Amino acid sequence: MDKFQNKHVFITGASAGIGAALAHEFASQGARLTLTARRLHLLEGLAQDLIARGTEVLVETCDVTQDGDLERALEKARERFGKVDVVVANAGFGVVGKLENLKLEDYRRQFETNVFGVLRTIQCSLEDLKQTRGSLVLLGSVAGYISLPNASPYAMSKFAIRALADSLWAELAPYGIAVTLISPGFVESSIRKVDNQGVFQRASEDPMPPWLLMPASRAARDIVRAVSRRRRERIVTFHGKIFVTLFRFFPWLIRLITRFGIKGRNEPSSPAQT
Ligand SMILES: NC(=O)c1ccc[n+]([C@@H]2O[C@H](COP(=O)([O-])OP(=O)(O)OC[C@H]3O[C@@H](n4cnc5c(N)ncnc54)[C@H](OP(=O)(O)O)[C@@H]3O)[C@@H](O)[C@H]2O)c1
Repeated sequence: MDKFQNKHVFITGASAGIGAALAHEFASQGARLTLTARRLHLLEGLAQDLIARGTEVLVETCDVTQDGDLERALEKARERFGKVDVVVANAGFGVVGKLENLKLEDYRRQFETNVFGVLRTIQCSLEDLKQTRGSLVLLGSVAGYISLPNASPYAMSKFAIRALADSLWAELAPYGIAVTLISPGFVESSIRKVDNQGVFQRASEDPMPPWLLMPASRAARDIVRAVSRRRRERIVTFHGKIFVTLFRFFPWLIRLITRFGIKGRNEPSSPAQT
């Protein structure tokens, strides 16, 4: 039998990339889905696809930086499908650039989505998860282990998520809640086309070479398998595993690779940073 048959899965940031791929993967395993994000037209397109394949789907607009949005979306979700079994705190984006070119406000904006957005998601769904003895899935990143130059806001936010996952893993265990931290390396998505304000820049190009990117559908399969096994953590992508292991033992490598000109990406559509 499918592991998630009739389970209620709630996903933030489901309109694109990994979130949308997770919606497909959970759907293929029989789940009922509440999909949230800010761009309703994308959610509706995705829902049409899934409903045509027999999945029960609710879409709700929700900005994780806005107090009240998640509560409202979850209330509608409960009315439709009952208590939530799996919560995926996936919504996120990357603020990049050198500290000297950034303002405090840029760091705040990054944390408002990637950290406080995750906390809001957890706080309003925790009672459900206690009752269903469900799963909480947090999207971290390999950047939660390795902080490259030009990427301090994003890396700081993902280090924070890793710390949160470590605490909650033990804190929520007595309630029967599994906490799974997902730390992807480079996965196909639109994240590298989103600017420091969180706005998708259609005309920009993903700076990553395609061969380095794991297809989102494959990442989603990997993630859903880890969730079904109630794993504590899953590093997604082979290169991600290598990097995390290497940098754990040889943190000075960061200086070495910087000398070879490897650094975090530039902001899409911004002038190249030097
Ligand atoms: N792809 C990678 O290589 C990679 C690597 C490591 C970690 N990750 C993490 O994986 C997660 C998903 O990213 P992705 O790569 O799939 O990026 P993506 O394709 O840009 O998707 C990001 C999703 O987050 C949503 N989102 C952004 N800000 C939001 C907000 N304030 N409120 C609600 N939803 C918001 C976006 O929807 P709307 O714009 O419609 O709101 C979109 O659905 C992120 O947490 C990211 O940090 C990705």
